[in-house]
Amino acid sequence: MYIGLDIGTSSVKAILLDENQKLVAQASSELTVQRPHPSWSEQDPESWWTACEAALDELAAAASAEMAAVKGIGLSGHMHGATLLGDDDKPLRPCILWNDGRSAAQCAELEEREPKFLSLGGNRVMPGFTAPKLQWVRENEPDVFKKTAKVLLPKDYVRLKLTGEHAGDMSDSAGTLWLDVAKRDWSEPLLEATGLTRDHMPRLVEGSEVSGTVRRELCSRWGFASAPVVAGGGGDNAASACGVGAIAPGTGFVSLGTSGVLFVSNDRFSPNVGNAVHAFCHAVPDTWHQMGVILSATDSLNWLAGTMGQTPSALTGALGSVTGPSDVLFLPYLGGERTPHNDVGIRAGFYGISHGTEAANLTHAVLDGVAFALKDCLDALAVAGTRVERVTAVGGGSRSTVWLEIIASLLNVVVDVPADGDFGASLGAARLGQAAATGSLDGVFAQPPMRLSIEPNPNLTRAYGDAHARWRTLYPALKQAGF
Ligand code: XUL
Repeated sequence: MYIGLDIGTSSVKAILLDENQKLVAQASSELTVQRPHPSWSEQDPESWWTACEAALDELAAAASAEMAAVKGIGLSGHMHGATLLGDDDKPLRPCILWNDGRSAAQCAELEEREPKFLSLGGNRVMPGFTAPKLQWVRENEPDVFKKTAKVLLPKDYVRLKLTGEHAGDMSDSAGTLWLDVAKRDWSEPLLEATGLTRDHMPRLVEGSEVSGTVRRELCSRWGFASAPVVAGGGGDNAASACGVGAIAPGTGFVSLGTSGVLFVSNDRFSPNVGNAVHAFCHAVPDTWHQMGVILSATDSLNWLAGTMGQTPSALTGALGSVTGPSDVLFLPYLGGERTPHNDVGIRAGFYGISHGTEAANLTHAVLDGVAFALKDCLDALAVAGTRVERVTAVGGGSRSTVWLEIIASLLNVVVDVPADGDFGASLGAARLGQAAATGSLDGVFAQPPMRLSIEPNPNLTRAYGDAHARWRTLYPALKQAGF
């Protein structure tokens, strides 16, 4: 038996798999995001642990006999979060999340001062990443910075609670921007640029390696007969790739979670900083990946639903099927954008609303707008030399077939939809737990059975291509107007 534990932005998800990777039980526990100032985004690290405890309690209640046989646990979590611990391992302040925009000035200054962020780190220094956040803390909260003994990523804080170990995996650690991504090791010059040393960092392991074992008192709480190993695990995107079997070069997924991601595996480190393409280590050895990331995917639909006093599924349900692009255009930049603009200051908007515009037109525009932004990611990956022909759909938004139809036609890719629903990151985490416990990767990262393959519809592809070209003119126009 293996457990996958995914610390998502809006909830913790836990799944229990048997030796054949069949789902035995699942549980989840909600999380909230705090936004104390415009463009800030924070979470209390203790809330992750409380939610993990609740989810594991629920698994133990649902499947107590199977819990006794758990041999491996894998962790995944939202990436880039700066979790600052004092020398007593207690958080010094709320975690600064992946979609926090406060460190734009620090990003510009770090890029200018240390060009190795682009060469060794392989990425633009963007406000969501961990290194510029530490520079922000150094400048704005010097007492907290001075007291910082360790900087952990969100899932690595959960690991510390589970095992007592300070450890991090390669895929998530690459997203700090302190990693020499080609070497899969911390980079002294990059750490030094933000006033840190190797001592502030956790020990590095591969995602499929053992990082520690579960503490004895927790084993008795959840009924583990012998202490399960905890795998390195992965950032949620690399873990999702493990969940859908996207390990071989050229395989990938589209994720409609709080963020939106277009992810492709590579057999080598393939940076392309020009269009804010992300280039990180994968969660398995000798493998890397590229991805385009948009900051508000289901977040855009959730925002619209909240504003209208509806649920997201009520909005997409009312839409029915889509026979062409919406007349209304929506830019999904609620909290700025990463790929391709690297622009934390840009904001979202609707364009083209008329007397006849109804709620369903706005929903349609939001689905289109997120799809257009993912097409920008596809184009950025193409500039980076990567072609994408087929992707698996993951994330909560992938429950909307109409959204996936729009994406398949606009991106002109086949979209495969897994039969078992949306278990991407937690499934990948459980599989990494299995690899660590058995010491083998053989047969662990297969493609799950698919429920549906959505082919691009040539008529829609043409119409959506034209609409995307029109939509693309809005961003430069807004910038020119000083937005
Ligand atoms: C990736 C990113 C997000 C988070 C949250 O760079 O910031 O996808 O991992 O899911």
